[in-house]
Amino acid sequence: REQTGIRHFIDLRDLDASTLRAIIDVSASVKRMQSGRKFPLHPKQPFAGRSLGLMLEKPSTRTRISFEVGMGQLGGRTLILSPADMQVGRGESLADTARVLSRFLDALVIRTGDVETLREIKRWSSIPVINGLTPDSHPVQILADIMTFEEHRGPVAGTKWAWVGDGNNVATSLIEGAVKFDFSLDLATPPTHAPRPEVLDWARREGGRIRLFHNPEDAVKNADCIVTDTWTSMSDTDSEERLDALRPFQVSRNLMSQAASGALFMHCLPAHVGEEVSLEVFESAASVVFDEAENRLHAQKGLLLWCLGGEDWTSAGLAS
Ligand code: CP
Ligand code: NVA
Repeated sequence: REQTGIRHFIDLRDLDASTLRAIIDVSASVKRMQSGRKFPLHPKQPFAGRSLGLMLEKPSTRTRISFEVGMGQLGGRTLILSPADMQVGRGESLADTARVLSRFLDALVIRTGDVETLREIKRWSSIPVINGLTPDSHPVQILADIMTFEEHRGPVAGTKWAWVGDGNNVATSLIEGAVKFDFSLDLATPPTHAPRPEVLDWARREGGRIRLFHNPEDAVKNADCIVTDTWTSMSDTDSEERLDALRPFQVSRNLMSQAASGALFMHCLPAHVGEEVSLEVFESAASVVFDEAENRLHAQKGLLLWCLGGEDWTSAGLAS
């Protein structure tokens, strides 16, 4: 009964490279239109009267606020849907919840600790469903990361990135992004915290230039961008074993100096400065983490235009 042809955004691997490229290009155009104004009302207000639901089972600063503000700037409104405040919190099925929400809303973002919840909601939804983070992936983050890289360094295709630390949800989406946007990615993770083999197998089948190392120095050689993330994600239990395994993977000044000259540092935030990244690197000129956070807003607008904008979505959001 799952409907086809709906513009869901579940994982980067599900979309054509050309669609993903267009989402980033539209995001960058919409950002340029701001021309320095902080809270622009979009001249076309393409989403006037439309509603976006944000179903968040976990805390969020960037994802929540960037979708909320971005939808507002395009003329629409956002509803924050805490599962605990809905009947789903006392047992109404996800199938019924998805079918009811589809009658009220125009699109739905979900952040959940259970990938199956996202799948089940998508199965029963007749509106676009957007993955706002699961334990397995975080695709909206990577749109902002690629946009940020290109602002600083030009086209991403053919560049080399390194991931250092936990092979987690963000690392997984970065692998998928590297394949779709044609850049190479070397990861250094402890063997016990490597990305899921299924993800690496997919990337290799797709012809991706993805390599896995267990020593940070091996991964960062010639890298144009070094990316890391927290050692303890929302789905993880904090443990001494985890921290012990990850401690050699801090992005330090010494590690940055082994990358290509002018290499950028990125982190999706929130950061645990002093763990996965040193204070010196986090606050250095190479660190573009706050541009990256800002670009979540612009990238959400490009993504929403694709999800809701219809056939002429690439021009729907742009001034005439
Ligand atoms: N990077 C990111 O998704 O942050 P939040 O958890 O604050 O949404
Ligand atoms: N890997 C982190 C990302 C937070 C945005 C987590 O899942 O908690």
